Amino acid sequence: MNRKHIVANWKMNTTISEARELAQNLASHEFPNAQIVLCPPAVNLAIVAECIEGSKIQLGAQNCYYESKGAFTGEISPEMLVAVGCTYVILGHSERRHIFNETNEMIQKKVIAAVSAGLIPIICIGETLDERKAGKTLSVVETQLRDATRLLFDKGIFNIIIAYEPVWAIGTGLSATPEQAEEIHTFIRNTSTKDFGVITQQIPLLYGGSVNESNAQSLLQKPNIDGFLVGGASLKPESFLAICGAV
Ligand code: 13P
Repeated sequence: MNRKHIVANWKMNTTISEARELAQNLASHEFPNAQIVLCPPAVNLAIVAECIEGSKIQLGAQNCYYESKGAFTGEISPEMLVAVGCTYVILGHSERRHIFNETNEMIQKKVIAAVSAGLIPIICIGETLDERKAGKTLSVVETQLRDATRLLFDKGIFNIIIAYEPVWAIGTGLSATPEQAEEIHTFIRNTSTKDFGVITQQIPLLYGGSVNESNAQSLLQKPNIDGFLVGGASLKPESFLAICGAV
């Protein structure tokens, strides 16, 4: 299987017309070496789905709730995301964890709900700067990883993506070095392999945090970096295309 994925997380950016323009632009290109996934804001999922129809680009959401329907004002269910054309959903992004207080337990429930609805979760894990300085990086990553994946792996479900996004590298222009990222990716790979066997090695491990056209190539040289989760640079077509071209 091709583990290379480049995922665009547009976060809370793009109006409907901006989303249409960006998606149309990207859909006019070919991406032979990687699976491209666009994750626009929820209100723009339908328009982006239309724009990428017939291309190989796939659609993802930035979040979902863990119930299928009901009195949960403002929330969106995994089933709704499938109906609008999503294949993927980002879960556990650090902005969800730190701004909206999502816990490992909530993220575990969301991951299970997403998979049950047929979505591929892109599970984000990563330490804050304080945690890194305190030498807690591996234990934070290990807990986030195990809590989000254990129940799935127990059931033999491995069709997921994991994104290592150190919080200190997100939106700061200060990317992890290829060596720093590879160290944690290797740790993630080894932890899952130790717990659940070599089958977990098919899981794409993406890096996220200030990825741009200048650092993409050197990060991709590392054997356990299978692609990227891109924020800011995914909103600029020329930068995003250059990152995709680095694969
Ligand atoms: P930036 O690429 O803007 O640092 O954001 C990374 C990110 O959070 C992707 O999910």
